[in-house]
Amino acid sequence: MSSFEFNKIAGAVLATALMVFGLKSLAGVIYNSERPEKPGYVIEVAETATQADGTDAGTAQSAESLGKLLAAADPKKGETVAKPCAGCHDFSKGGPNKVGPNLWGIVGRLRAGHEGFAYSEAMASKKGDPWNYEKLFAFLKKPSEYVPGTKMSFGGIAKDKDRADLLAYLATLADTKVPFPNP
Ligand code: HEC
Repeated sequence: MSSFEFNKIAGAVLATALMVFGLKSLAGVIYNSERPEKPGYVIEVAETATQADGTDAGTAQSAESLGKLLAAADPKKGETVAKPCAGCHDFSKGGPNKVGPNLWGIVGRLRAGHEGFAYSEAMASKKGDPWNYEKLFAFLKKPSEYVPGTKMSFGGIAKDKDRADLLAYLATLADTKVPFPNP
């Protein structure tokens, strides 16, 4: 074999090796970029409790009890948190359905239970199960996760404190406020 030919083969081997290494490190980059931003974030242990009437109580948060959050919640701030909801929901008593159903009296109201609104199958699948603070707290964190397939296209409100304020506001939309759970 001439040294020229040897060089050609060696070059090809080298190029292949470089390509393999290149792909490997490229894979490394892709893999790394898919890692969650906060690894080891373990606060959200979802527990589904069962109530006496056999319906699930929603997702319990292990960080701080919802009762505590609600005791410290501010309905005025909640009204601000509720601004984006108003694009789709009317909050007034006897008010109309918009893109979403009217939300007067939503705490304690039956799920998918507002007259004249065409709910998605996903939402209607637990029709009649009453909304309580726990369930609303879990639903509003990430609607598409709590009710997969819901047609409420809203990403959710990530911060527990904001959702507690929001619930404190929603609680005021009633003739008789449903008491908060114990802290
Ligand atoms: C882009 C429009 C849109 C926005 C914004 C939106 N919703 Fe909804 N919402 C809907 C629709 C549509 C439904 C009905 C969902 C279904 O049938 O799957 C719904 C359903 C609900 C329900 C269940 C009602 C029932 O009768 O069972 C609650 C509670 C609710 N929304 C609260 C909120 C709150 C609180 C906000 C703001 C934080 C909000 N939504 C923002 C469109 C929206």
